[in-house]
Amino acid sequence: MNISARRLHISATRPEDFPRGPRPQIAFMGRSNVGKSSLLNILLGAKGLARTSKDPGRTRALNFFLVNDRVFFVDLPGFGYAKISAKIRQQWKGLVEAYLTRSEGPDLALHLVDSRHEPTDMDGELREWLQEAGIRHQVVLTKLDKLSGRDRVSSMKRAARWLGLPEGTSPLAVSSTTGQGIPALWRVIDDVLSKHQTFRPERADGPAAGAATQGGRPTL
Ligand code: GTP
Ligand code: MG
Repeated sequence: MNISARRLHISATRPEDFPRGPRPQIAFMGRSNVGKSSLLNILLGAKGLARTSKDPGRTRALNFFLVNDRVFFVDLPGFGYAKISAKIRQQWKGLVEAYLTRSEGPDLALHLVDSRHEPTDMDGELREWLQEAGIRHQVVLTKLDKLSGRDRVSSMKRAARWLGLPEGTSPLAVSSTTGQGIPALWRVIDDVLSKHQTFRPERADGPAAGAATQGGRPTL
């Protein structure tokens, strides 16, 4: 996707704030500090669009970023951050669940896992939950630049086992610092977008709907 525009559409703190309508949505999920906001920024080529921080718990609302006026990238609060009150944690959980279970939920959930660490029980729960909810999801290992050589190989193997991938298959891994793995991740996103109903020619919901195609694949 060639990105011509991106902006924060709404920072949602209540389900009533979630945008309605047919635009596809790509959600960024995972533990606090795993690199969700950083990944969103590098995908959109917009440093500083989503706020990042070395301190966990930076993203506190569901931030809907509108891309090319056609797609939402949704930056979610992270889970597993110990230093917040039980009340706030319940609020975040309620908000995230409300988002995931609504009829206009995400078309693709990117589930980020830090490549340096073992996936946690909470990662396992999220994965099961997404599977049961029938939400298409993709596990993405982050901060690949922090690993080298043998550590990288063992991290890939560990993640492949966790994901149940066939022997010899590598999971999707990225670095928001070096840009490694970003084109491969874009291919996954583009694939989801190209299958989305908004792009059917008969649904003329805007000037670009069903218009341009490149090698059979709609462009945004
Ligand atoms: P919360 O909003 O708190 O849940 O965090 P987040 O998942 O959005 O993480 P964020 O993008 O804010 O990044 C957390 C920290 O990790 C920041 O200091 C980033 O600079 C750093 N970081 C993110 N991605 C990478 C990466 O690929 N490589 C390296 N070296 N650092 C990264
Ligand atoms: Mg964040």
